[in-house]
Amino acid sequence: MNNYEPLRKKLNFAEDLPFTPDWSAAADFLTLIADHCLEKKPATIVECSSGLSTLILARCCQLNEHGKVYSLENGSEYAEKTRQQINDFDLKKYATVIDAPLEKKEIEDSDYLWYSIKSMPVNSIDMLVIDGPPGFIQPNSRYPALPVLNDRLSNNCKIFMDDASRDDEKNIIQLWLDRFPQLKHEYIDTERGCSILSINK
Ligand SMILES: C[S@@+](CC[C@H](N)C(=O)[O-])C[C@H]1O[C@@H](n2cnc3c(N)ncnc32)[C@H](O)[C@@H]1O
Repeated sequence: MNNYEPLRKKLNFAEDLPFTPDWSAAADFLTLIADHCLEKKPATIVECSSGLSTLILARCCQLNEHGKVYSLENGSEYAEKTRQQINDFDLKKYATVIDAPLEKKEIEDSDYLWYSIKSMPVNSIDMLVIDGPPGFIQPNSRYPALPVLNDRLSNNCKIFMDDASRDDEKNIIQLWLDRFPQLKHEYIDTERGCSILSINK
């Protein structure tokens, strides 16, 4: 039995979940975001990086009969692969993978590469899942997510960041808490660590 089997059963997927060792989010992180999605039924979900997480969130929206996930993906081959999987699992109505090449963003006098959001059609995000860009690209790779998207977060938005046990991600959380004092942070001790931020505007 693979680690994803309990989640497959919970979400009533008929087929095995397509995962890539080391690159797919871990089952415990995916279970956390699925539980939140099933309970709170967010209308608009944005995620940074596509893959198995897109499939899981889209399936939750299908079960909820409500909501849609918009997945920013910088790698065109991974975008295509996720689209194919969404198609194969008949979840097209619940997920759109957006080609979002990394582009230069200047934030607080530092340069970062982060997703282009030119083609992102949403303005009120109820759930934000951050699992990219990959850490090897630059220090604090995921930091731009909140400075760039803050104006588009709804009042009750929940933010989930994977890999939160890493030093870079711990650093990013501290930078966010300093810059956005209205955020509340909770750390969950999952396989790779999960940071959950609540926004109270
Ligand atoms: C941690 S992965 C994203 C995982 C995704 N959230 C999931 O649960 O499957 C972050 C990024 O790595 C890239 N990526 C995915 N699979 C990869 C692989 N096998 N080798 C190199 N890069 C990969 C993609 O651009 C992806 O957006």
